[in-house]
Amino acid sequence: MIGSTINAIEAENISYIYPDGTTGFRDVSLKIGEGERVAIIGANGSGKSSLLMVLSGLLKPKTGYVRIYGIEPNKKNVETIRRMVGVVFQDPDDFLFNPTVRDELMYAPLQLSWSTEEIEKAVKEYSEIFNLHEILHKPPFRLSGGEKKKVEIASVMIAKPKILFLDEPTANIDGKAKRKIMELLNDFNGTLVLTSHELEVARKLCGKAIVMSMDRKIMAEGDIGLLDDEGLLEDAGVL
Ligand SMILES: Nc1ncnc2c1ncn2[C@@H]1O[C@H](COP(=O)(O)OP(=O)(O)O)[C@@H](O)[C@H]1O
Ligand SMILES: [Mg+2]
Repeated sequence: MIGSTINAIEAENISYIYPDGTTGFRDVSLKIGEGERVAIIGANGSGKSSLLMVLSGLLKPKTGYVRIYGIEPNKKNVETIRRMVGVVFQDPDDFLFNPTVRDELMYAPLQLSWSTEEIEKAVKEYSEIFNLHEILHKPPFRLSGGEKKKVEIASVMIAKPKILFLDEPTANIDGKAKRKIMELLNDFNGTLVLTSHELEVARKLCGKAIVMSMDRKIMAEGDIGLLDDEGLLEDAGVL
């Protein structure tokens, strides 16, 4: 957002190393203003997912720090962070575990101790927005890929996060479901951080881009117009 002075996310010199010694990414410093929409772009294995997980507070950086609205995520403030942040994983099967779609939608609000009345209202509202009425009683594993993705995104957005992180929100989804997901994300009123290897998705949804290099560092960052630089994208292994 132009003129925004509040940082939703601030990362200083962060890196992440997996237990087996693999570098997830390194030397990342960035600031994401409240209301900004940022796409993390890069080749397979460039560290996009790892960076998203660290920025969202789900993984702790090996070096440096992340601050979410000024708070460095730790064991004591898990609840506070959880109220502000929503994370949509790439594979809905890693996320959907409740017996029915309705239970899935109710899960986060229950965790946040909303009243029964508030929960019922939200489930109704989000079933409408995402058009889930006909599948509310179904077990998530019975759904199509596009339906699973919609349920996953709805189950995260229903808790009204201030910051929404999405890892490849449209991977393996096309046609109508993809257009619907793009529309819903476009209507989201908060800070949006997503990874994508689809430039079109990034261009449509985001105002800013971060391009990761194959050695898993930030190669370039700036306005979304950055993605018109073919030389840069070739060097990044995206084109
Ligand atoms: N759980 C894991 N254990 C070890 N290495 C991992 C793990 N997850 C990812 N990596 C490695 O970290 C690097 C960055 O991966 P990732 O963040 O998934 O990249 P991207 O999302 O851009 O494809 C890759 O070399 C990948 O193999
Ligand atoms: Mg990934």
